[in-house]
Amino acid sequence: MEYIVEVKNLKKSYENGKIKALNGIDLKIEKGDFVAIIGQSGSGKSTLLNMLGALDVADEGTIIVDGYDLINDKNLDKFRSKELGFIFQLHNLIPNLSVLENVEIPMFETKLSGKERTERATELLTLVGLKDKLQIKPTKLSGGERQRVAIARALANNPSIILADEPTGALDSKTSSEVLDLLMDLHKNQNVTLIMVTHDLNVAKLANRQIEVLDGKIISQ
Ligand SMILES: Nc1ncnc2c1ncn2[C@@H]1O[C@H](COP(=O)(O)OP(=O)(O)OP(=O)(O)O)[C@@H](O)[C@H]1O
Ligand SMILES: [Mg+2]
Repeated sequence: MEYIVEVKNLKKSYENGKIKALNGIDLKIEKGDFVAIIGQSGSGKSTLLNMLGALDVADEGTIIVDGYDLINDKNLDKFRSKELGFIFQLHNLIPNLSVLENVEIPMFETKLSGKERTERATELLTLVGLKDKLQIKPTKLSGGERQRVAIARALANNPSIILADEPTGALDSKTSSEVLDLLMDLHKNQNVTLIMVTHDLNVAKLANRQIEVLDGKIISQ
């Protein structure tokens, strides 16, 4: 079995240890899998996802993602820019850049020329159905459209793993199923590992595996 994620005894607290967000997480995820992380509000889902994306620092434990040791490796720029696509709970687009520029951002750290960056960003925005909105600012888009820009941005560098935090949380059911179809297509056709946090059990059912977090621990999987 080839694992893309291997987590052992992961602990993370906030406020000088007063809030124990993760309380000893053990988790293995196979390459190419589609996994849903479920659990009530405040249970630690986003904290766990942020740790898997090297967006925050752990207190204790081991996190290996796609061969990178996220706790001990000194330089994770390559991991962040080449292997990882992260879709945030609130899409985090840059408001004063155009849709196209937002998708180009992750490619600035690559060897692509300006022209190649623009071509790739255009291609991705076409894929998510936004080819008519390239020059628009994100503030003029609907919630679903913003989330689709965030997906296009997450795909910019052909990541091997996509971490998505409630990608459909703010969307109506029709837009939500469009966004999900898009993510599932990527998972199926490009063998991208997809790890998605959701509070919606109907969405979680679409995954191959469901992992339930409660009080910073995995209680079922
Ligand atoms: N930056 C922070 N500083 C202090 N406490 C935090 C911080 N981030 C999260 N927490 C706390 O850690 C716990 C886990 O939070 P987390 O965001 O992981 O929950 P969640 O499962 O993603 O919840 P939700 O479903 O509401 O998004 C909560 O008690 C939360 O209040
Ligand atoms: Mg959260």
